[in-house]
Amino acid sequence: MSKLHVLDHPLILHKLSVIRDVNTSVKEFREIVSEISMLMCYEATRDLPVEDVEVDTPVAPAVVKRIAGKKLALVPILRAGLGMVEGILTMVPNAKVGHIGIYRDPETLEPVKYYCKLPNDIADRDVIIVDPMLATGGSAAAAAKFIKEYGCKHIKLMSIIAAPEGIERMMSEHPDVEIFVAAVDERLNEHGYIVPGLGDAGDRIFGTK
Ligand code: PRP
Ligand code: URA
Repeated sequence: MSKLHVLDHPLILHKLSVIRDVNTSVKEFREIVSEISMLMCYEATRDLPVEDVEVDTPVAPAVVKRIAGKKLALVPILRAGLGMVEGILTMVPNAKVGHIGIYRDPETLEPVKYYCKLPNDIADRDVIIVDPMLATGGSAAAAAKFIKEYGCKHIKLMSIIAAPEGIERMMSEHPDVEIFVAAVDERLNEHGYIVPGLGDAGDRIFGTK
């Protein structure tokens, strides 16, 4: 069974209230998506292994903990996933970044893949797929399936807002993928938009509407 983590920290909830607001500017929307991603990354990386290393402080030698060279890859789903990358890289600057281009066919709501470039050693890395919206779950499920075809074993999904339908689909198609979200909303509307959601995340990040 996949694990669902709802990261309802007050800082995240507050920032989420700002990006839901239709009157928030593109600049502020983009900045806050990045900040939320940074905060979510803190929880999504909680299980990274650490190892003991020795350092000399100005006072004495000390045995301290460092991240144990675990290799991470972020895979944003284009376009909207791009808005989450910078915030996460602030926390894990050595992560490699792959890209998968997927859009939803507006009629069928099914995912259409149009681009893919992943790190050569993706199979050896822990992968975090990032996309602010998990609606029907079609895009995230397709991305996870595709990444698994490259041999990846450890995959997480980080989305800011999810619909129950998207969570169910991910859990049934990819029970091994841990899911991190900031909010689970009520439902999808007849156009496949999350209600209440925040509208079209790609358009709001890039100002295309
Ligand atoms: C949005 C969003 C997800 C997808 C979620 O992308 O960023 O990728 O929809 O919907 P799903 O769970 O039903 O698949 P969109 O297709 O609007 O493309 P864009 O990021 O290029 O705007
Ligand atoms: N994609 C979005 O950007 N928003 C939604 O509400 C659903 C899919």
